[in-house]
Amino acid sequence: MTLPGSVHAAGLPYQDPSLPVATRVADLLSRMTLDEKIGQMTQAERGSASATDVTTYRLGSILSGGGSAPTPNTATSWADMYDSFQTGAMATPLQIPMIYGVDAVHGHNNVVGATIFPHNIGLGATRDPALVQQIGQAVAEEVSGTGIDWDFAPCLCVARNDRWGRTYESFGEVPSIASSLSTIITGLQGTSLNGPSSVLATAKHYVGDGGTEGGDDQGNTVLSEADLRAIHLPPFQAAVQRGVGSVMISYSSWNGVKMHGNKYLITDVLKGELGFSGFVVSDWNGIDQIDGTTGFTAAEVTAAVNAGIDMVMVPTAWKNFITTLRAEVANGHVPLSRIDDANRRILTKKFELGLFEKPYTDRSFTATVGSAAHRTLARQAVRQSQVLLKNAGNVLPLAKDNNKIFVAGKNADNIGNQCGGWTISWQGSSGNITPGTSILQGIRAAAGPGTTVTYSQRGSGIDSTYKVAIAVVGETPYAEGQGDRTGTMSLDRDDLRVINTLRGKGVPVVVVLVSGRPLDIATELPNWNALLASWLPGTEGAGVADVLFGDYKPTGKLPSTWMTSVSQQPINDGDGKTPLFPLGYGLTYP
Ligand code: BGC
Ligand code: BGC
Repeated sequence: MTLPGSVHAAGLPYQDPSLPVATRVADLLSRMTLDEKIGQMTQAERGSASATDVTTYRLGSILSGGGSAPTPNTATSWADMYDSFQTGAMATPLQIPMIYGVDAVHGHNNVVGATIFPHNIGLGATRDPALVQQIGQAVAEEVSGTGIDWDFAPCLCVARNDRWGRTYESFGEVPSIASSLSTIITGLQGTSLNGPSSVLATAKHYVGDGGTEGGDDQGNTVLSEADLRAIHLPPFQAAVQRGVGSVMISYSSWNGVKMHGNKYLITDVLKGELGFSGFVVSDWNGIDQIDGTTGFTAAEVTAAVNAGIDMVMVPTAWKNFITTLRAEVANGHVPLSRIDDANRRILTKKFELGLFEKPYTDRSFTATVGSAAHRTLARQAVRQSQVLLKNAGNVLPLAKDNNKIFVAGKNADNIGNQCGGWTISWQGSSGNITPGTSILQGIRAAAGPGTTVTYSQRGSGIDSTYKVAIAVVGETPYAEGQGDRTGTMSLDRDDLRVINTLRGKGVPVVVVLVSGRPLDIATELPNWNALLASWLPGTEGAGVADVLFGDYKPTGKLPSTWMTSVSQQPINDGDGKTPLFPLGYGLTYP
């Protein structure tokens, strides 16, 4: 295929890579019309815009929402799709490349066959900044292999209430964990944004998303400014220090005011005080929520842009956004200086990424999607993320040889369940959604000579001749507000029934809990011989087996306080409540 624009036409200063980025940006800006500038500030969803729209409307950015993928969903067709949108950008007079964003929040998770890493809560349990940086680099390679330049990750939320459906996107309940694991930004962006596999990272969601009352997703964070700064701001400070290229605004409110309209926190604190020089992007239809009614008005567009949002994620209503912003500039509500500032920020990152020189996919990375090397790294992350919470009579590690093991539970042999939300689809789903190794497969592969492993999801066939039974139970996939738990946080009836079935034969029971957060298990725990918190490990279930068999001695530490009862929510380190297990708890083998 001949890609238009691979040869730059005019030899203008902004097209000269030997000039400083600031010079190039100034030159380009001086050549742009208002429509071109507004286009740069507009981000449309891939399903609602075509390559021709990119050309006609000068769209500066395209995103894939959760699960929004080309058909067939393969790395190569992602790259083809990316290149096609980029062809649209290269057909504009100034040939300003579009930037494509995706939620690669635990691996390149919209792509079938990608390596799926543990969700952040599991990475938080590792407390290993170097490992997390390596993961960032691996994710960047897989993302680059599909052309994409920009990752809406990491989520640096500090989840303070486990009822929140996004708890698993948090590295932990205290800011120090997310701050130290902000190394993932360095992994994603590389030492230079211009590196061959560097992608732009996004610190999200600024700020206070994990602090809402009742753990209500997109809710209201009621805190003094001192507490907001002490609990929720530090990871963003760390991200800015690491040179994070973009920041996404939170849907939540701070003391009743929607973050998307908060000029003080976006412009004065983030851009001013913290010195953030990248660009700010709004969340999916986030500007619609400023006034509390559906859809956006001109006043909301103006409030968001004047608050300091540089690029607006308007997945479907992007044409209306363009028209509205143009009118708001014409009537003086949005100063041209603000439009120029937003463009300067966006274009700076596009130049720094090298997009003007290399607008199309570097296909040399396409084969890294789901590569053996990345799966090995993910398995290592799974091992390190396991937190051993109980091990009565040292039932673990399991003997490898001459053992008789029974495995049960809905999460034992289910890739979709062990991956959780944000996997292939937005909400995630149960079943064989993408290639990987289930926890059961990992156990079978690790078992040595003379050992039998029997599996029944419901526990049928267990008898007293088994030496140990492993119940792999917990949560099933969810994302965002659909994961909010406003009632009980116990195991469901099927899980309790399976565990009872196993216990009924007097076989020691090891519970492996696959969940996005601590669950309310205190009353059941005395009946269990061992408890391993697995979090949401992703595609490499063998890492769980490594810990069960002692090929890896557990090192994971709780990234959040474990409740004694759901009535304690929110429960956090230092709040005086008595937990079942404190923050930082985690056993190992002798
Ligand atoms: C989420 C963001 C995500 C965006 C794009 C929103 O609903 O809150 O975390 O980056 O969608 O998918
Ligand atoms: C999209 C997600 C987005 C969500 C927001 C979904 O349809 O797939 O990416 O975060 O809507 O509500």
